Amino acid sequence: MNLRYFEPEDFEDILEIEMETFSEHNPFVYINFYEINSDGFIVATVGDKVAGYVVGYQIYENEGRIFTLAVKKGYRDKGIGSELLRAILNLFCRTGLKYARLEVRRSNVRAQKLYNSMGFVQCWVEKKYYSDGEDGIIMKAYLQPPYDMNSYTNLLDNKINNKYESGITNENTL
Ligand SMILES: CC(C)(COP(=O)(O)OP(=O)(O)OC[C@H]1O[C@@H](n2cnc3c(N)ncnc32)[C@H](O)[C@@H]1OP(=O)(O)O)[C@@H](O)C(=O)NCCC(=O)NCCS
Repeated sequence: MNLRYFEPEDFEDILEIEMETFSEHNPFVYINFYEINSDGFIVATVGDKVAGYVVGYQIYENEGRIFTLAVKKGYRDKGIGSELLRAILNLFCRTGLKYARLEVRRSNVRAQKLYNSMGFVQCWVEKKYYSDGEDGIIMKAYLQPPYDMNSYTNLLDNKINNKYESGITNENTL
């Protein structure tokens, strides 16, 4: 499994995961994310396929928001979601943010468990947050580095190197 930044050619794979996973997003939001926030859009690949992705961005002075996290069916329960989550939290830390927040469906106990294991706690409930009327739980974490992601640290460093040296891959094997 590799982590790297999103590239436009990943869009079809993202769309496939998006369609099988969520009903409430407009998939084209991902192109916007790429255009305005490419560093906060990280994909996990297995072979040449995208197996999962996470998108996060700075929402307040000290706070990052995880907009979405998804792993393709068939690739779940292998640690990919946790790695993506660590990657985005690590990125938030490196950009000086102190907190992370996210919204999760009340019924999505699996995701809540994962978030709990990364230090997120339930803060409040937004009634009928989702378009189908389900409540959303707002969870927040105080960012406490390090999130053990040496490979991701290299990913960031490689991106910097890539600006100066051609021929260096920006992929890192986990
Ligand atoms: C939530 C989601 C992103 C989690 O992704 P994932 O890749 O399955 O997550 P992980 O594999 O890292 O962790 C899930 C479980 O597998 C376990 N696990 C991690 N590595 C493992 C491994 N190598 N072998 C077996 N199990 C493992 C984890 O401990 C965790 O167990 P737990 O639930 O008992 O804590 C995924 O289920 C998903 O895409 N769901 C649909 C979309 C969604 O709900 N997104 C969140 C919206 S807020």
